[in-house]
This record gives sequence, C-alpha cells and structure tokens, in this order.
Amino acid sequence: MVKATILGAAGGIGQPLSLLLRLNKKIDELSLYDIVNTVGVSADLSHIPTPQLIKGYVPKDKSDNETIKIALQGSDIVIIPAGIPRKPGMTRDDLFKINAGIVKSLIHQVGINCPNAFICIISNPVNSTVPIAVEELKKLGVYNPKKVFGITTLDNLRLEQFLSDSLNNKVSTTDLYNDVLTIGGHSGDSIVPVINSWNKNFNDNESYDKLINRVQFGGDEVVKAKDGKGSATLSMATAAYRFVDNLLDAIKFNKIIKEVAFVKIDELETFKLPFFITKHTQYFSLPITIDQEGIKLVEFPGYLTEKEVLMTKHAVEKVKVDVSKGFNFVHGSK
Ligand code: NAI
Repeated sequence: MVKATILGAAGGIGQPLSLLLRLNKKIDELSLYDIVNTVGVSADLSHIPTPQLIKGYVPKDKSDNETIKIALQGSDIVIIPAGIPRKPGMTRDDLFKINAGIVKSLIHQVGINCPNAFICIISNPVNSTVPIAVEELKKLGVYNPKKVFGITTLDNLRLEQFLSDSLNNKVSTTDLYNDVLTIGGHSGDSIVPVINSWNKNFNDNESYDKLINRVQFGGDEVVKAKDGKGSATLSMATAAYRFVDNLLDAIKFNKIIKEVAFVKIDELETFKLPFFITKHTQYFSLPITIDQEGIKLVEFPGYLTEKEVLMTKHAVEKVKVDVSKGFNFVHGSK
C-alpha cells in the first residue's frame, strides 16, 4: 500500500498534480492537504472511478496541528508545492521570506508524523528550501539524506522541448529524454543545461546561447504571459508527475531508477564528482540512482564541454550562496 500526500494540493500546481496522481495506479491512498479548498478538490477527484482512496484536509485554524497529522500519518511520499508563486518582476529569491517559513513549518510536521517518507520539494527557491528542509529534519533528529529531493525536473522538460524547438523539431523530445539534462541549481544561471552530442548541431554561439538562456529563464516566459496570475503550474505539475511516477517504481516495486534532483551530496555515495563541486557546495542537482531505500548514488554526467564546465563552476558559486541563506533561516545568521 502506497500513500502519497500533497501539501499545497489546492494551488495552481497542486490541483493538476492531484489529478495526475489520482489517475496513477501505483498510489493506493492520496491525501490532499492545503490551508484552503482541498475538501472540494478531493470531492471532485473522488468521482473519478479508481480503487484509490482519496481525502482532502483543511486545518480548522492556524493552531490546528491535528489535521495535518492525520493527512501525513503513514505517508510513503510527501510532495510539497505549498507557497506563493512568482509575480512579474519578482525573482525566485523574492519568494524566499514567505516560502521559507511555509516550508519550514510543513517539514516540521513531516518530520514528526512521517519521518520515513520520501520528500519532494517543489516550493521555490528550491536552492534554499531544500537546505531549510534538511536542517529542520536534522533538528528533529530524523534526517535521512537518501530521501530529500528538490524537484528540478521542469528545467529538464524545458531543455528537451526548447532543444527540440531549436533543432526545428527534427528530433523528438522522447529521444532527448535521458540524453540531455540540467545540473546545478534551480534558478536562473545556476541551471546548467548539458546537451551532450547535440552540441554539434549548433554552428554559431548565438543560437546556443539563446537556447541556454531560454532554459535558464524559461520560467519568466510563463510569469510574463500569465501577467500577474501566477507562474508555471501545468508544466510543473507534469514535471513533478514524471519524477514522482518514476520514484513510485522504486518505492512500490523496488526497481532501481535514474533521476535528476537537487540533493545534499556530501552525505551520499558519489561517483566521479569533480573537486570544484564537492569543495565548495554540499548541495547540487545531479543524476541520481534510487531504490526502495532512497538515493544509492550521485553521479556526474559523463562528458561536459568547456562551456558547460564554466557554467557549472558559476552555478556552484550561486548555489553556495542560496544554500547558506536556507541554512541561516533555520539556524540564524552567524
Ligand atoms: P499557488 O499559490 O497557486 O498554490 C500554492 C498553494 O499553497 C495554495 O493553494 C496555498 O493555499 C497553499 N499553501 C500556502 N501556505 C500553505 C501552508 N502553510 N500549508 C499548506 N498549504 C499552503 O502557487 P503555485 O503556482 O502552485 O506554486 C507553488 C510553489 O511552487 C511556489 O513556491 C512556486 O514558486 C513553486 N514552483 C516551483 C517550480 C519548480 O520547478 N520547482 C516551478 C513552478 C513553481
């Protein structure tokens, strides 16, 4: 029996993600928690015929910790898209103050009520909210480095689609999945697209730079187009679904799966991570291998061009700053 819980389930990402997970046969119980509306969302989804149990939970007031306790108890996987999204002109960092507090308090409840769950953090800024989660779990004495993930899958989806666009759709995005990936962090130029042999399709720097910029700042396209009404939700729900669906194969069927996520690398088994990463940062988004127990291995992608190495070194500096922001949020600045 697999129980999945979404914290922030009534939001722009939460609702389409709830729909997708309602249709996922690997989940036996779906628990939807938010400070608003989940009772309605779950009533609506409960009319879709599946054997899955579904329930929505809304706390009675700010001091009600009983409702989230029931929502979380027995969860094998917890997905967190709670928080506020970006508005035009806002960077992911502008979200920090509000979302940092939300993530910290939700993770506290996760640590108390389902400490063995796999935790997937979507709330931005991921480069800082993941360290917040880690430090909060450490404070509670329940941190498991193998089970905390910052979801960067949307960067990978964008790379697949935008690269296919740049190649005039001559290659299918299905072929690009598993062949290209992003590493580094999850904001602006901390995102490093790694495009392997597709590099040879770019004869001029201008079209390559355009692709890289579009992947790194793809979120801005959506924020601008939505004109004040939110950031990426449908593509993000799809991205989170891809990650969670894959993870469920590990959790439910003990398969060994490959993914990419923003994780705390220094307490994990690693393979061929360059010193310029491990010396300067404890966190990075990298290819990972996962089984039922969690992350087995963190690896460095096989081959990077000189440009990609330069971008990775720049990303290390960016991530380092964002990580200390998250750390200081939990422990207070030194
Ligand atoms: P939204 O505002 O539509 O939904 C957020 C939901 O969180 C709301 O329903 C709200 O009631 C709920 N919420 C707020 N405080 C809560 C609490 N203490 N407990 C439970 N629920 C709470 O926002 P949207 O568009 O769904 O985005 C959510 C987050 O995901 C934002 O931080 C956004 O920046 C981030 N995001 C991350 C991406 C990624 O690639 N990792 C991509 C796009 C967005």
